[in-house]
Amino acid sequence: MEFDLIVIGAGPGGYTAAIKAAQLGMKTAIIEKKKSLGGTCLNVGCIPSKALLSSSELYHQAKHNFEVHGINAEGLSVDVSTMMKRKDGVIRKMARGIDYLIKKNNIEHFSGTGYIINSSEIEVDQGTQKKRLKTKRILIATGSNVSGLPFLDYDGKTVLSSDHAIALDQAPDSMIVIGGGAIGLELGSVWARLGTKVDVIESLPRVAAIFDEAVTQPLQKLLQKQGIKFHLNTSVESAEKTTAGIKLTASKENNKIELEAEKVLIAVGRKPNTDNLGATEIQIELDERGHIGIDADWQTNIPGIYAIGDVVGGPMLAHKAEQEAIAAVERMAGKAGQVNYNTIPWVIYTSPEVAAVGLTELEAKDKGFEVSTGIFPFQANGRAVAGAHSEGLAKIISNKKTDRVLGVQILSANASELIAEAVLLMEFEGSTEDLARTIHAHPTMSEGLREAAHVTLGEPLHL
Ligand code: NAI
Repeated sequence: MEFDLIVIGAGPGGYTAAIKAAQLGMKTAIIEKKKSLGGTCLNVGCIPSKALLSSSELYHQAKHNFEVHGINAEGLSVDVSTMMKRKDGVIRKMARGIDYLIKKNNIEHFSGTGYIINSSEIEVDQGTQKKRLKTKRILIATGSNVSGLPFLDYDGKTVLSSDHAIALDQAPDSMIVIGGGAIGLELGSVWARLGTKVDVIESLPRVAAIFDEAVTQPLQKLLQKQGIKFHLNTSVESAEKTTAGIKLTASKENNKIELEAEKVLIAVGRKPNTDNLGATEIQIELDERGHIGIDADWQTNIPGIYAIGDVVGGPMLAHKAEQEAIAAVERMAGKAGQVNYNTIPWVIYTSPEVAAVGLTELEAKDKGFEVSTGIFPFQANGRAVAGAHSEGLAKIISNKKTDRVLGVQILSANASELIAEAVLLMEFEGSTEDLARTIHAHPTMSEGLREAAHVTLGEPLHL
């Protein structure tokens, strides 16, 4: 038997590709080495972290913010093991959903490690046996794995990766987080809310540096208010285990600092998974950072072998992988699949959340645009004030000549949901005037974005 497509890896990229291929009439198989489908995102990434962020946010709200509403939460306590059980239940529920979709679409699922022999043959190592599968095409969707620091080996007890930090059985007294990006700020927030003293070390001059400074500066201040301490422009140089945990030596603007904690979480980025795949053996070309090289059809240098998601370049985001999956499979089927890389939303699920699409003000200027910008603070938004979550702002960056929106940045409660409107606006190449003239329900947080459009046009109403 020969498959039309075999997908290696069942993360959001891989399983979406398999479903799409089956729906387009291809005889499809998917190979996954882990027991549970869903990849990093479902098993140790996006979903478990959001489960813990939701739980810890409720606790934090009850402890610090209920009082203003007249609610007394005296005697409040937290049981981390119940929190972890709920998180594991969320993963199981969503994994069952993927199993169901794989079966429903008649996709053959092989449990084991896929090794590419050539463009039409894959060997699946299932532990007790090895199976050879024949196929017309292969799609590599093997994702990424945590990168580390050369002088600090993960041990899962004191030196943690994100995989470990979503599975602690109690809140540590103290934790140093190396890296002030998405994982550092999200998991740092989880443990800080649960009572851990968190120190974030970031080598750059600001946290979440892919976002506009207009949102990262207030974000950092708000996280500081929640108890997180930041050490910017700081690079860790060495580490030493102690009886109490770990001692790190770092350099900060020519000074040496020492930090000690019970645990350290390393969150300095991820690297593509290309080991034990057969990719190098059959000379699939990798770029200088180890990502698989692809053309406009997501095809590698070897005809018939394709790659999508974290294993290729670009943002390591589940939604980017999903969109590539659909487009790549559509191209295989002779359709005109596309990914608009200019409108990929970015979100960090801190409290408040930070979300963005398109260019920051600085990036737009660097690209030579003459820009108009407008900022609207949620302090002047009725819904935000009524809900007692009025921190944050919405910022629009537009082309001064054409009024076309180039980028949007939001720091607010539910920014992850609010950004969708900006993504759609940019997908339709909309202008700030389009947004300003679009009716938004009152009172809603989404009015804040509309107000930012008014500000950008120089016609503020509520400022
Ligand atoms: P990241 O790239 O988001 O952040 C890493 C941070 O560590 C950067 O700010 C970087 O400047 C800093 N850094 C690097 N080396 C350092 C060092 N030696 N000392 C101090 N700081 C250092 O990577 P992160 O947070 O590990 O996340 C990995 C990937 O997963 C990212 O691509 C991210 O987009 C994705 N992710 C996305 C999430 C989301 O969309 N909400 C959540 C979690 C992860």
